[in-house]
Amino acid sequence: MSLGPGPTEWGETPGVGPWAGSLPDDPRYDPELLRDGDTRNVVDAYRYWTREAIIADIDQRRHALHIAIENFGSDANIGTVVRTANAFAVHTVHIVGRRRWNRRGAMVTDRYQRLQHHDSTAELLDFARGAGLSVVAVDNVPGSVPLETTVLPRDCLLVFGQEGPGITPEISAGAELTVSIAQFGSTRSINAGVAAGIAMHAWIRTHADVTGAW
Ligand SMILES: C[S@@+](CC[C@H](N)C(=O)[O-])C[C@H]1O[C@@H](n2cnc3c(N)ncnc32)[C@H](O)[C@@H]1O
Repeated sequence: MSLGPGPTEWGETPGVGPWAGSLPDDPRYDPELLRDGDTRNVVDAYRYWTREAIIADIDQRRHALHIAIENFGSDANIGTVVRTANAFAVHTVHIVGRRRWNRRGAMVTDRYQRLQHHDSTAELLDFARGAGLSVVAVDNVPGSVPLETTVLPRDCLLVFGQEGPGITPEISAGAELTVSIAQFGSTRSINAGVAAGIAMHAWIRTHADVTGAW
């Protein structure tokens, strides 16, 4: 049996053509998309919706989970993390370090995701304290506990480190918990974007209402 492209595969889905029939007057619809069709990387429920309407809808269902990426050198990894955070309706992605990054890898998902920049790790930790979030570092370093047997706090900020050095000493000191992802092969670590996806999903499995997923 051959399967067609999935509903959200960027570049593969044909999307939808111009709206057929009389035009709806629901303000969530975008007149240009109704006229020209909608081939954006959005789930079918959001076809023809304005970007603002989509964001407003996700905002009502955002999870308590915040995530942070520290000093990532790779724009592709930032994009991967942002795209996954968008898929899981993460509250906010915090980026410590560079303000500018090439958004290509995010596949346009950054437009629908809350992003917050912090100049330093100290600023990120201040934010977490003020917002009442438990800071959970994610890295396979001495003192970490297995993610697989740990329940992540609901109101939490998961922090991921960069390729090479991993999480900074400031995050190690400021986190109330450090979790590692079990590995069984030869490599010292997995890609930071992949690690972020695994950890975010661990939070989803514990705290999200999966009956509300698409
Ligand atoms: C490529 S790792 C580098 C640091 C790693 N500690 C090392 O020794 O190579 C970059 C980031 O990916 C995440 N990461 C990679 N593998 C991980 C694992 N097994 N458990 C938890 N986090 C991991 C962490 O956030 C880490 O800071």
